[in-house]
Amino acid sequence: MSGTVHLVGAGPGAADLLTVRAARLLGEADVVFFDALVPPGVLALAPDAQKIPVGKRCGRHSTAQRFINKRLLDAARRYRTVVRLKGGDPMLFGRAQEEISFLGKNRIKVEIVPGITSALAASAELGISLTLRGVSRSVVFATPRSADGESSGWARAVAAADTAVLYMAAGDAVRVRDALMASGKSPRTPVAVAESVALEGQALHAGDLQTLPELAARCAGGPALVMIGDVFAAAQAAAWRSLEPRAASQTA
Ligand SMILES: C[S@@+](CC[C@H](N)C(=O)[O-])C[C@H]1O[C@@H](n2cnc3c(N)ncnc32)[C@H](O)[C@@H]1O
Repeated sequence: MSGTVHLVGAGPGAADLLTVRAARLLGEADVVFFDALVPPGVLALAPDAQKIPVGKRCGRHSTAQRFINKRLLDAARRYRTVVRLKGGDPMLFGRAQEEISFLGKNRIKVEIVPGITSALAASAELGISLTLRGVSRSVVFATPRSADGESSGWARAVAAADTAVLYMAAGDAVRVRDALMASGKSPRTPVAVAESVALEGQALHAGDLQTLPELAARCAGGPALVMIGDVFAAAQAAAWRSLEPRAASQTA
């Protein structure tokens, strides 16, 4: 009998932003495969599990996806409860489908536990709703990053939305700004770059689309979201709601 692989959302970082189900599964896990953005405080919830880093920071694929798939399969054949812990929500920009398909083909049972995606954590930390009566009735989650040859309508989709949150975009700020302006977005559209949300070093850089490259350049190397839309006009003045950088003890 094979075990079950649970694809578990670790949320944006703080251990108390996990779901109760995620915390329970971590406590029961025989083995946990975790991404680079998963902080120690979350891993501490799996005291008895073997913990294996399969670190991928976006764009820096230190462990090839094929190899991760194979390791998950081997673990499921050996153990009862295998947890694949992914930052934020596993089903958003997490390559979850590749793991689900591969394990399914190999007749391994897979279960998904959602997590709080970083866009929603940033909205909460900012105290700015992504929807707002009379201002924003549509929200798009997108990334300008695409695999070779993959056609991408991301800029059109973002330009058409009232509010957009871009993942994996801060490192490519000039191209992102130019593509959005070419697609009709005003250079004056408010922008907030939210770095290391719910992690140590949390920071906010607010301005407008024209200044996106300067805002992104202020990032200190943590994961960052580019948030675009009129709802972020308030971000210029508003400090984060709880924007005291989190103490290590809160996340570790
Ligand atoms: C491979 S994607 C994974 C997204 C993840 N599945 C989620 O739901 O948040 C990694 C990107 O998510 C964003 N991200 C993840 N964690 C973040 C955080 N704590 N603060 C800001 N952005 C974050 C960044 O844009 C980063 O480049």
